[in-house]
Amino acid sequence: MRRLACTLLLALGSLSQGLAVEGASFPAVSGSGGAVASAENASTEVGIEILRAGGNAVDAAVATALALAVVHPEAGNLGGGGFAVVRIDGQLASLDFREAAPADATRDMYLDAEGRPVDDASRVGPLAAGVPGSPTGLFELHQRFGDLPWSQVVRPARLLAAEGFIVTSRLHRSLSSERESLERFPETVRVWLPEGRPPAVGSRMRLPALATTLEAYAEAGPRALTSGSVARAIERASDAHGGLLKASDLASYRAVWRQPLTFDAFGWKLASMDLPSSGGIILAQTVALLESLGWRQMPRFGADRAHLLAEVWRRSFADRFLMGDPVTTEADSQSLLAHDWLAYWRSTIRMDRASLSADLARLPESLPPESSDTTHVAVADRSGNLVALTTTLNDTFGCRLLVPEAGFFLNNEMDDFAVAPGRPNLYGLVQGEANAVRPGNRMLSSMTPTLVWRGSEAVVLGGRGGSRIPTAVAQVLLRLLVDGDPLQTAVDRPRLHHQWLPDILRVEADALSPETVQELLSRGHEVEIWTRDAKVNAVRVLENGTFEAAADPRGPGSAGVVTPMD
Ligand code: DON
Repeated sequence: MRRLACTLLLALGSLSQGLAVEGASFPAVSGSGGAVASAENASTEVGIEILRAGGNAVDAAVATALALAVVHPEAGNLGGGGFAVVRIDGQLASLDFREAAPADATRDMYLDAEGRPVDDASRVGPLAAGVPGSPTGLFELHQRFGDLPWSQVVRPARLLAAEGFIVTSRLHRSLSSERESLERFPETVRVWLPEGRPPAVGSRMRLPALATTLEAYAEAGPRALTSGSVARAIERASDAHGGLLKASDLASYRAVWRQPLTFDAFGWKLASMDLPSSGGIILAQTVALLESLGWRQMPRFGADRAHLLAEVWRRSFADRFLMGDPVTTEADSQSLLAHDWLAYWRSTIRMDRASLSADLARLPESLPPESSDTTHVAVADRSGNLVALTTTLNDTFGCRLLVPEAGFFLNNEMDDFAVAPGRPNLYGLVQGEANAVRPGNRMLSSMTPTLVWRGSEAVVLGGRGGSRIPTAVAQVLLRLLVDGDPLQTAVDRPRLHHQWLPDILRVEADALSPETVQELLSRGHEVEIWTRDAKVNAVRVLENGTFEAAADPRGPGSAGVVTPMD
């Protein structure tokens, strides 16, 4: 780990500090000129470089996201989508560049004649791909709020693709563990499994087709990908493997500026993502209910807080069943955060007894049993600007099909729709009619890019991990805002998760003492130890102007800051 820390220190030169985290914990890094947290050293380094070159937090976040599209192909992308919540010059905004269902999508496209889900069609292969939003979204974010020229923001990613980057053991592992599904597509094999296996750890990986795409993107913006030869190549690759994506879908895709979801909790102001992500609503319900139920006064460790988290999330995720694209949702943030609705939910919570998820909402008649990639970038700059940017392909390497001429993977975000009544998605989420497949609709997300501030203090955070993202973000925030944990400790501490269905409280090892587990069991909770929690990246600005950055020890992550010498 020390060696990795040194590698990034060296890579960043003597002017910045940084560290890499994978499976081990370090203190947060701190500096005074801005901070970046992202999944990889190479991408965090790009963000720091852009801040040092005078770019603002948006320039840095977009450049970091584009670098991730090269060095972190599991999740970084041009073939996926995402959300950004920003505060620039005091102005709050959020951008929805979530993928959309293609025009030819139909409600039953993943079902056979008997109404049963067909294999893994919503997960592997281009039928699983929504219309990518990243090319338009990243560009529009920069157009509206960036300071540096667009070509300067794209350049580091283009250079990484053209000149190559070093294959990490993590990338090698991801490719090895997804090998079987990647092998279904010769286009993917040619780039990522040359000679039938992943490129060796430590070798230099060049991505010439992606470099060409990025060069065109730097010159012409999203048109370079949403029309012309790249769009036609996407249609061709999709068609060759039974997909529905058309060049016309790419041409008609629009990113949407939406009102960020803003709320107060525990004396802090928060801004997060509203529909089509459920993340902001779940986070807002969680903190509102906990605050009014006396969270601050409860003993920090022990059964009461764990019990309350389970009860609150059981309700928030039951509400999630009603959510979908803003056009078709059956309930929105206004109704689900209304005083009366929160008071009703509060009135149904007992401290001595767990509720049953099945009692909390009307479910599809019968539920089959329950059967993951995303990456978060957090940036704060010295002018007080904040950017929380989460992008995703959904699963690792998306639908696994790489478009050869474009050089990037297509997402498998369609699986975030309710693809079959009552069928849990990749994250075990059971979803409702509001989130059925409809052409042009955005599939419901759980991503939770979030900003938090009080006076000059601020936190930017978000994560990857599907349905576990909002619960992880909520716990990190509660530790920071209520319990006063240091940033890295707040990210590191083991977490809990409940998502209504399955009706199980998931617990990371060491999150709870055996006595607390016993007490929870006696209140009626089903408790399961698991290792699949979300990965959170966060940066923080302290009252004295110090910047901190922290990456999650659970997964790939890299935190960097700009130091005074910059
Ligand atoms: O939008 C969503 O909620 C999911 N597609 C996010 C996927 C994710 O976080 C995968 N990361 N491990």
